[in-house]
Amino acid sequence: MGRRVKIEIITMFPEFFDSVFSQSIIRRAQEAEKVSLIIHDLREYSGGPYHHLDDYRFGGGAGMLMKPEPFFRVFEKIFEAEGKTPLVIFPTPQGIPFEQSIADDLAKEDHMVMICGHYKGIDQRVIDRWVDREYSIGDYVVSGGEVASAVISDAVIRLIPGVLGNLDSARTDSFSSGMLDGPHYTRPVNYKNYKVPDVLINGHHKNIQRWRKMTSTVLTKRRRADLISN
Ligand code: 6GU
Repeated sequence: MGRRVKIEIITMFPEFFDSVFSQSIIRRAQEAEKVSLIIHDLREYSGGPYHHLDDYRFGGGAGMLMKPEPFFRVFEKIFEAEGKTPLVIFPTPQGIPFEQSIADDLAKEDHMVMICGHYKGIDQRVIDRWVDREYSIGDYVVSGGEVASAVISDAVIRLIPGVLGNLDSARTDSFSSGMLDGPHYTRPVNYKNYKVPDVLINGHHKNIQRWRKMTSTVLTKRRRADLISN
């Protein structure tokens, strides 16, 4: 019932996704048919056992590049199967910064394809022909696009209606209000003399709300002043 989002991932390392998509919320989202995750093994599109997925860069320089043909083959197959074209996402350090508001928007899409880059990246013709959006997951480099694709997929899938049991839980996440989430406590009230703040135990709803807003503001000012000025 309801909407089912399709996310396809094109990768040289399909096994990478076995563990990340088989746990917790993402696993339950698939079981509840809120999302279907399809992993394409790029090697199957390499054109035979002696066709490599990577090659030297024109113009020289260290580092190999992913060849265009395997991507073109897999995209031609994906696109011919569908009437409506999917949104194609390329996670790359050269992309615009991926953030919560983008995840919110992507959660409204019905069909997305992500490609995972390696080495120095992917032949530009793949990007020009097939890619709609390029996102970076932060100002650092991770060694493969699989990690970034998993990050982006997870951030999107948990926002699909019906995936999180409690909508309020997502609404109070860090960033959904433009602020960092403050501290939380559970039982026991006193553990090895580390105590839960009194205000949370006394149960005055207004005071609790005020305390949460205050701790969230203090934390955000201290760690992420950039979020407040926005
Ligand atoms: Cl999307 N990929 C890789 N490999 N490194 C990154 C990134 C993406 N975003 C930031 N660093």
